[in-house]
Amino acid sequence: MSAQPENTTPRTFDLGGDLTVNRLGYGAMRLTGKPGNFGPFEDWEAGLQLLRRAASLGVTFFDSARSYGPETADRIVGEALDGRDVVLATKGGVDKPEPGRITVDGSRDTLHREIDDALTNLRRDQIALFQLHRVDPNTPIETSVAALAEAQADGRIRHIGLSNVNRRELDRALSVAPIASVQNRLNSAEPEQLDLVHYTAERGIAFIPYGPLGADPMAQGAKLAPQQAIAWLLTQSPNIIVIPGTTSIEHLEENWDAWTLV
Ligand SMILES: NC(=O)c1ccc[n+]([C@@H]2O[C@H](COP(=O)([O-])OP(=O)(O)OC[C@H]3O[C@@H](n4cnc5c(N)ncnc54)[C@H](OP(=O)(O)O)[C@@H]3O)[C@@H](O)[C@H]2O)c1
Repeated sequence: MSAQPENTTPRTFDLGGDLTVNRLGYGAMRLTGKPGNFGPFEDWEAGLQLLRRAASLGVTFFDSARSYGPETADRIVGEALDGRDVVLATKGGVDKPEPGRITVDGSRDTLHREIDDALTNLRRDQIALFQLHRVDPNTPIETSVAALAEAQADGRIRHIGLSNVNRRELDRALSVAPIASVQNRLNSAEPEQLDLVHYTAERGIAFIPYGPLGADPMAQGAKLAPQQAIAWLLTQSPNIIVIPGTTSIEHLEENWDAWTLV
């Protein structure tokens, strides 16, 4: 009898080298409304149930951001998962002072204030992963990352992540502090970031694709069905943590079953 090939797709990734997470996570942006609008939150109780169902399925990585709401995604994630042994990630440096208006501010004082707000909203003593949401054109990335490194040194955040960065910006950030993750848009119809995926993999850095299902309004080209799209990402590289977003428990469960395809 010939031996079956072993399934080599790892289920987990050690974020920052020390936080083991299931590589199929959850993205909380959709809980606060459509992208570009981001709110207001429509059904708090349903959101709590959905987040707790995700945790009971085995999701251990939850991605949020200050600008989702603003702050409501962090609050509902914090409330739903209070006291649970899961990894909560959020982002700062982008805010939404009023509906339809986004501001980008990666200055030291703003990031420190946003970290304090996120600690309260997420109900944690330490933020497992705090990501710079976008590079501020008026603040060198080194300055923003140095501010996050201060918060890491004083224990308010455990790991530093980046989002919407290119390789050069990642290298500049790495010259200041260890970087645990990069979150950029990637899906099977938009595979341009795969070079950066491999660059991060070689350095032990997680790559967190956003828009993993190729969600509108930014979709381009042909899309795979959701489970196939998730499985495609999980098999591209072992450092990928997939964070599909959904407001439906049925879709959440279907997405989780993407593990059966890899
Ligand atoms: N860093 C950044 O700049 C950035 C930007 C965008 C997003 N993100 C992060 O990435 C996460 C995911 O991105 P995303 O929400 O834009 O895109 P996505 O995960 O590619 O797609 C979400 C959309 O797909 C639908 N969906 C999910 N599962 C489905 C299923 N099984 N069957 C049918 N439809 C399904 C959802 O609708 P239903 O609610 O009806 O399921 C929702 O409209 C966000 O939650 C956020 O955490 C980050």
